[in-house]
Amino acid sequence: MVDVIFDVDTGHDDAIAIMTALTYPEKINILGITTVAGNQTVEKVTDNTLKLLDYLGCFIPVAAGLTRPIRYPLEVQPEAHGESGMDGPVLPPAKSRTLGIHAVEFLRKTLEESDRKVTVIALAPLTNLAFFIRMYPELISKIEKIEMMGGSLYAGNITEKAEFNIYHDPDAAKIVFESGIPIVMSGLEVCRKAAIPHDAMEQLKGKGKVSQLVYELLYFYCHYSRERGWDSSEIFDITPVFHILWPELFESKYYHIGIETESPAYRGMTAADFRGDRDRTKDRTEVLLDVNLEKYQERFFETIAKLEKMLKQDLSH
Ligand code: BDR
Ligand code: CA
Repeated sequence: MVDVIFDVDTGHDDAIAIMTALTYPEKINILGITTVAGNQTVEKVTDNTLKLLDYLGCFIPVAAGLTRPIRYPLEVQPEAHGESGMDGPVLPPAKSRTLGIHAVEFLRKTLEESDRKVTVIALAPLTNLAFFIRMYPELISKIEKIEMMGGSLYAGNITEKAEFNIYHDPDAAKIVFESGIPIVMSGLEVCRKAAIPHDAMEQLKGKGKVSQLVYELLYFYCHYSRERGWDSSEIFDITPVFHILWPELFESKYYHIGIETESPAYRGMTAADFRGDRDRTKDRTEVLLDVNLEKYQERFFETIAKLEKMLKQDLSH
């Protein structure tokens, strides 16, 4: 059983990642969820998180965090996630509320009180974590590892060179990558390999409360790929959760990753040191490179069916 804290900017794929973790309470114990500005403003992504949890009938502590990156202006992504940050499904207004303490304070309190090490699943710009590392360095050792979605070895998505989560707050990413905390990086390469076919998504339609929600989330989220005639889409943020649940599905390699914070053309680039003939003791980031696609896709649909069943059982009690 792994104790985890999610750090998210919910977000279609963040939402499905949270749902995936909720499906396996015997393997993943969610201590809380912190939110941060990224896909949309922190107010919107926090509201999306609360609405999702309410819809699923789950109580998990939520704490809202930083409202903008350390240095660069906030650049939200309505093209990818819509004006709400999670356009598509229309969920009832959230009834539950956040804890009313800042995300960074929630991280401090939770890690201080935990007698076991905690894994952070970071699916958003790394601003909350960077502040936490700078403010409470004595608690860094309580983090087992950071399982993150972000970065890429080769091409970017938001720019030619950078992936969105790292591009958005490269200063924060630099602090996190230089902190010494073990990092498992689900970058664009492995996420792209783990794409889910659109025709299989169609089969979720009308099947039940969970399947319909995932269908509506994906229908909006995949508009970009559909418009380009692609027949599958990556659901980026689920990959770190899949790696925790089923590490045997992945292949990885350790690299030293440098973060570019200055150059406009390369801002947010996660530069791996590929040289072979050098001191490899600095290779501390485990980069996921490949995945068993057939099994990954199987697990994806099994998970939705399992959560559907769990929810029905819960409701019938
Ligand atoms: C990342 O950016 C966000 O839009 C997604 O939620 C994911 O975390 C992909 O680049
Ligand atoms: Ca995200």
